[in-house]
Amino acid sequence: MVIQVDLEFLARDTGKAVGRGDLIIVIDVLRSGTTILNALTNGAQAAVPAMTLEEAYKLRRKHPEYLLAGERGGQKPKGFDLGNSPLEFTCQRVEGKTLVITTTSGTAALVRSKTAKWVLVGVFLNALAVARKAEQIAIRETIGVSFVLSGEKGRFSLEDFLCAGAIANGFASGKAHFSDKVQAALLVFKQAENNLIGNVMKAKHAEHLVQQGFKGDVAFSCSLNAFRTVPMYADGKIMLYQQTAPSSP
Ligand code: MLT
Repeated sequence: MVIQVDLEFLARDTGKAVGRGDLIIVIDVLRSGTTILNALTNGAQAAVPAMTLEEAYKLRRKHPEYLLAGERGGQKPKGFDLGNSPLEFTCQRVEGKTLVITTTSGTAALVRSKTAKWVLVGVFLNALAVARKAEQIAIRETIGVSFVLSGEKGRFSLEDFLCAGAIANGFASGKAHFSDKVQAALLVFKQAENNLIGNVMKAKHAEHLVQQGFKGDVAFSCSLNAFRTVPMYADGKIMLYQQTAPSSP
C-alpha cells in the first residue's frame, strides 16, 4: 500500500485534511506545539486545548485543580498560571497536572481538527518520533497523512513549513508518497537543517519572540529530535501516545 502524504499551508484549511480522513499532524513550532510536548514529557497528565480565554476560565471554574496556560500577544493572560514559554513547563510546575491551554493560533488549529480520528502534535523536538508513529498508524489503518501548519494569526509560517519537511524526512517505510507541497517542505528543510536555529530566526514569528525576550524559546524549539514522545489529541484532550492507546504499536 501507499501512504498519501499531503499538507495544508493554513490552519483554516484543516477541514480539508479532516475531510480526507487522514491522520493529521498539527504543527506549531513557535510555540504551542513545543510547549504541549514539553509539558507532557515533563509529566503533565493532559493538556486540554481551548479556543478562547472565556472557555479556559470556564473550564477552570469547573475544575479548580486545572492549571491555565497560554498567551495572547505572546504574554500570559490575566489569572493564568503559566504563559506559553515551553521552558516554564518544568516537572516541578506540571507533573501530574491537567493543563488548559489557549494560544492565538496553535490551539485553534488543534481544536479545528478535533473530529479527526487520529491527531498528533509534531514539532522539531519530536520530528522523527512523530514520523514513525504516523507511518505505523497510517499503514495499519490504511489512511493518508496530512500536515496542518498552524501558522501565525492565520498566515503561513516558515518554521512550521520547515518542520513538516523535518517530519517528512523521518518517514522510513518506503511506502509514503509525498504531494508536491510535502516535497517542497522536504527540500527546504534539507537546505535549512545545517543551521536550523539561524534559518528559523528568519521567520517573522521568531523575530517577534526575540523582541519580546523569548530567544531561548526559539532555540529550544529547534532542538531537532531531542524527544521521542508523541502527543495525541483525542476526546478533547492531548496526552502522550502510549498513555492514550496502550495496546497500539
Ligand atoms: C500561537 O499558538 O499562536 C503561538 O503559540 C503563539 C506564541 O508564540 O506564543
